[in-house]
Amino acid sequence: MNVDIFTLFPEWFEWLSAQRHIANVTATGSRIECVNFREHTPLGAGQVDDTPFGGGAGMVLRVDVLDSALRARYGVDPVELRAARRVIALAPGGRLLDDGLVDELASEPELTLLCGRYEGFDERIIEHFASDVVSIGRYVLSGGELAAMVLCDAVMRKLPGALGDERSAEEESFSAALDGNPEYPHYTRPAEYRGWRVPEVLLSGHHERIEQWRRERSSERGARRSLPPDESVPPTR
Ligand SMILES: C[S@@+](CC[C@H](N)C(=O)[O-])C[C@H]1O[C@@H](n2cnc3c(N)ncnc32)[C@H](O)[C@@H]1O
Repeated sequence: MNVDIFTLFPEWFEWLSAQRHIANVTATGSRIECVNFREHTPLGAGQVDDTPFGGGAGMVLRVDVLDSALRARYGVDPVELRAARRVIALAPGGRLLDDGLVDELASEPELTLLCGRYEGFDERIIEHFASDVVSIGRYVLSGGELAAMVLCDAVMRKLPGALGDERSAEEESFSAALDGNPEYPHYTRPAEYRGWRVPEVLLSGHHERIEQWRRERSSERGARRSLPPDESVPPTR
C-alpha cells in the first residue's frame, strides 16, 4: 500500500514511520510519503491560507494551494484523481473511523490523506478533490496530522507482515472472529496479585472451556456497549 500524506508538518510522520509495525510493512514494499503543500503554493511567501469570506475567526486552507500540490504530485487535475484513488480529507465532522472503514481502507492499494490546520479546508477542497471525509472522533484536534497517524496505524497494522504474530489481528476487538464485539480480558503472571486472582478457567488448560469463557466475556462487553450511556458501565470492563 502506498500512502501519501499532504501536511504542513511532514516531520511529525518520521516518528510514525519508525514504529515497528509500520517499519515491518514498509520493509515489504508499502510506503508512507509526505507532501508539504506549502512547497507547492502558487502564492508568495509560502502562503497556504487566507481569512474566511463572511468574516469570523481563524484562517482557511486555500483551494488553489491544494489544487497545485495535488497536481504537482500526481500530474493530473485533482478533480479526476478521486476516481483513481481514495483522497481522504480529515475533518472532525466526517465519517467516523471504525473497524469496518479501516478494513475497507486496508484493501486499497493507494491512499491520499489531506491534513487540515487552522479553521480547516476551504469547502471546495472537500467537494471537488476528496473522495471521503473521515473523522477519528467527535472532538477537535489542532490539525489533521494525529488523525492521519491514527488512520495509518489502524490500517497498516492490518496489512500482511505488520504484526510479529499474524494471529494477533485475527481475533481482536471488533473482528469477525468475535462477531464484532470487543475482545475478552487478558491476564498474565502472577496468577494472584494483592488477592486479585486470575479466573480459574484460564489456568485450567481446558481449551474448549477457555474458548467458551472468552466468547462469553466478549459478547458481554458487546452487549454493554449497546446500552444507553446511563445504563452502561465503562465499556472495557
Ligand atoms: C482546528 S481543526 C478545524 C476544526 C473546524 N473549524 C471545525 O470546527 O470543524 C483543524 C484540522 O484538524 C483536523 N482535525 C481536527 N479534529 C479532527 C478529528 N476529530 N478527526 C479528523 N481530523 C480532525 C482537520 O484536518 C481540521 O481541518
